[in-house]
Amino acid sequence: MNIRQATVDDLIAIQNCNLLDLPENYHMKYYLYHALSWPQLSFVAEDDNGKIVGYVLAKMEEKPSDVPHGHITSLSVMRTYRRLGLAEKLMAQSSKQMTEVFDAHYVSLHVRKTNRAAIGLYRDTLKFSIQEIDKKYYADGEDAYAMRLTFKETK
Ligand code: ACO
Repeated sequence: MNIRQATVDDLIAIQNCNLLDLPENYHMKYYLYHALSWPQLSFVAEDDNGKIVGYVLAKMEEKPSDVPHGHITSLSVMRTYRRLGLAEKLMAQSSKQMTEVFDAHYVSLHVRKTNRAAIGLYRDTLKFSIQEIDKKYYADGEDAYAMRLTFKETK
């Protein structure tokens, strides 16, 4: 298993993982936007044959009204490669780059209220906290937890 920065050449494989693992899917131009704007922040996990088995797609939010912070757009690991620590490693790599390259103060994300595995990862392993509940955030009407992990306190 290997974790490395994602490149434009990986985007089709990333999109495939996303289609298999999550109901939130995106047009190729949205993947490309991430890869071209913040190439440092998205990572893939590949098996020993170079097959992409997981990814984290991430970006920076740079609104003038807020401190710089990262955002996890999407994360998934293919079913047969789960519970091997890949998601934790993908998140760690992306978070490190957010702070080192972009001076991010925190990273945010949304997760479905019923997504037990992802909530276990974010809240229990990575120590994200729940900021608020976004009612009916998802297209099917499910609520989201808006979560955040602080890297450095804002004065
Ligand atoms: N139940 C409870 N806790 C879990 C589970 C689970 N099924 N899976 C992971 N965790 C927690 C555990 O604390 C685990 O540590 P442990 O194995 O030592 O107990 C810790 O997270 C680390 O797990 P990893 O092995 O790094 O996680 P994995 O590589 O299996 O990926 C993921 C987790 C990404 C949530 C995977 O289950 C998945 O792809 N699910 C479908 C897609 C998905 O829900 N993605 C997140 C959507 S939210 C977003 O994209 C912003």
